[in-house]
Order: sequence, then structure tokens, then C-alpha cells
Amino acid sequence: MTAMRTGAVSGCAIDHLARKDAKHIGLFGTGVQGATQLWAACEARPSVETCKVYDLRKDVAEDFARKMKKKLKFPTISVAETAQETVKGSDIILTATTSPNPVFRGEWLDPGVHISGIGSYTPETRELDTETILKAKVVCDQVSACLDEAGDLIIPINEGAITKAHIYAELGEIVSGKKVGRESESEITLFKSVGLAIQDAATAKLVYDKARKMKKGIEVDI
Ligand SMILES: NC(=O)c1ccc[n+]([C@@H]2O[C@H](COP(=O)([O-])OP(=O)(O)OC[C@H]3O[C@@H](n4cnc5c(N)ncnc54)[C@H](O)[C@@H]3O)[C@@H](O)[C@H]2O)c1
Repeated sequence: MTAMRTGAVSGCAIDHLARKDAKHIGLFGTGVQGATQLWAACEARPSVETCKVYDLRKDVAEDFARKMKKKLKFPTISVAETAQETVKGSDIILTATTSPNPVFRGEWLDPGVHISGIGSYTPETRELDTETILKAKVVCDQVSACLDEAGDLIIPINEGAITKAHIYAELGEIVSGKKVGRESESEITLFKSVGLAIQDAATAKLVYDKARKMKKGIEVDI
């Protein structure tokens, strides 16, 4: 359920922040979260044609590519040899790793790319480097949670590279129309997610309602 809701939130961010014509995805981390990140990105952007996947464990990435090609009916899903190759030419970059250190360099980013960074969740670890944060319009799932947990933002703040004011918005502000999402074809957007209990609660309610409708499960007294 966590993987589904984390994918769904990222898909929502992609819907509001990625370019409408996004065709190429670069995915870092081919574990449990990587699968729903990729699935959600394809739901949000049916224009997607290719995906390059990269994982420190190449055999895991190859197995992932085989399974996801079948599931998502991708014309092209390939395993990248390097992090730089994964970034090159990508319109959407997804990071869903357990890495404590940045998985690519901000200097490699093309204009107009959208990044969803969902992997890191402690103040000392980050998947994204300071240059990436500096270049991006930063949108958080929740600002206070990210300032407590997201090393991707906390480390550049502690370095003095950015202040909290560099964070543009929460995703909810964009979805509700209080703030605009992408404003040009060339801006770089970033959605940083650390995960929120409200996302679990909302997803659990969907599962519960669906189970009731399908007459699955058993009633218990609490
Ligand atoms: N933001 C959220 O709401 C949310 C929700 C759930 C999980 N997470 C986090 O997402 C991360 C991934 O979770 P998971 O369950 O998919 O883990 P997983 O172990 O199934 O997969 C992680 C993959 O990342 C790969 N990896 C590690 N370092 C890498 C690097 N530098 N480059 C490329 N690949 C690398 C590993 O080899 C592994 O295959 C975890 O840190 C988890 O805590 C976040």
C-alpha cells in the first residue's frame, strides 16, 4: 500500500510539474518503490515512450526492466550502464534508492526536466546534490516534514547554499490552484517527498471502500 500511495503522489506531482510532452524517463533504484514510481509516471504522462533504469545491482535492474516492460507495455525500457547515461535526455527523472549520497550530478541536468525524489528521508542522507536543488523549483509533499527529514534540502540549507525560502510550494498548494506549477518549458522542477501519514490514511480508505464493495474481508469488533 505504501508503494502504491508513494507512486500516486509522485504521479500527481508529475501531472502538475512535468512537461506535457515528456517522452523519456530515467529511473534510479529498481526496488519496490521504483516500480510504482515508473508506473505512476506513465499514467500521468501517456506520451512516455522510453525508460532507462539504473541500479547499483545490475541483475536486479535487468529483472525489473523485463517485468516492467511486460506490465507497462513499454516500447523501450533499457538498463543504463551509468548514472550520467540515465540522466542524459530524460524529461522525467525518478529517484527511488536507498543511497545516502547523491545519485547523479546537477550539472548533467537538461533544461525542462522534472525530478521526483522520493528515496531519502533522514537529515543526513540525500539522493540529490546541492546543484540540483539550486537549479530547481522545489515543491514538497509537506514543507515542515521535509525540513525535519529531507537531507536533500537540509544539507544545502546547512551549507548556506539555500534558505527555506528556496522551497516554492507544497504539492497541495499547486493541486488546489493557489500556486502555479510549471511556468515554462525550460524550468527544472523537483518534487521532494518524505511520505506522510495522511497519504496512508487516504489510501487505506480507498482499499477499505473497495473491499466493502467487493464483499471481501471480515468484520471485526475493535
Ligand atoms: N517518500 C516516501 O513516501 C517513501 C515511501 C516508501 C519508501 N521510501 C524510501 O524509498 C527508498 C526505496 O525504497 P524501496 O522499498 O524501493 O527499497 P529497495 O531496497 O527495494 O530498492 C532500493 C534500490 O536502490 C538501489 N540503489 C541504492 N543506491 C543506489 C544508487 N546510488 N544508484 C542506483 N541505485 C541505487 C538498491 O540497489 C536497490 O535496488 C527507501 O529509502 C525508502 O525508505 C520513501
